[in-house]
Amino acid sequence: MRTSVIGRPFIELPSVDSTNKYAADLLAEKKATHGTVILAHEQTHGRGQRGHVWKSASGLDIAMSVVLLPQALRASDQFALSVATALAVHDVVADAMRAAVSRDRESVRIKWPNDVLIDRRKVAGILIKNEIVGGLVASCIVGIGINVNSSELDAEFNATSLRMEVGIPLERMDLVHMLCERLDHHLDLVPGRSDDLRSRFTELLWSRNRYADFELDGQPVSGRPVGVEADGRLLLEDENGHVEAYGTERLRFAPR
Ligand code: BTN
Repeated sequence: MRTSVIGRPFIELPSVDSTNKYAADLLAEKKATHGTVILAHEQTHGRGQRGHVWKSASGLDIAMSVVLLPQALRASDQFALSVATALAVHDVVADAMRAAVSRDRESVRIKWPNDVLIDRRKVAGILIKNEIVGGLVASCIVGIGINVNSSELDAEFNATSLRMEVGIPLERMDLVHMLCERLDHHLDLVPGRSDDLRSRFTELLWSRNRYADFELDGQPVSGRPVGVEADGRLLLEDENGHVEAYGTERLRFAPR
């Protein structure tokens, strides 16, 4: 693996409840170093956003966590870690699609705040837990789940896998190595080039400049995403052309 930080060490587990929990335990025991990757071949109790369960098929999908111990990263800049991660996942998914079926990279998009979609279907999710001490990010656990070769996904959640999109199974460990390389590259740009990362993230935003249905403070609204602030708030333009920034505590895409 051609990485300088990410994946050194690389911990491979046959089975674990949650790689994020495993990473948190390592951190609590002060046994995790910057760049440590934990990859599970089977994850029995994966954690998702908003307290949801994240399911991945044993030996078929990617369930991986990365521990970061940033040097002097301000808490106000923490969204850059999410941006760098989403871009890395985007690149791996987009490259896999192009290599397997010459399908346009443009079908792969990042749905704010950090889901990766192929067309309208979710192929990957990211769960980041930061510990803030004295206004700085003391540690960060980046959890990444990518549906690679699973074929039985809950249609209700509008999920997909790379295999379902390209029609052939993919070499999961090749994707894991590519993912570590892309993370190594993108995370190295934080915080110095966070604005560049954010520009690319904005270009790749799902539904950018197109109206979509949202829930704002629990009420249905329509708006079009036009960008993201450095703190992670989505810039949403309403039907009168008024742009306002909202965080995830107030705004979410309407469930489909
Ligand atoms: C989401 O709900 O979209 C986020 C899903 C994140 C799942 C990954 S799988 C590896 C890591 N370990 C976990 O328990 N969750 C994350």
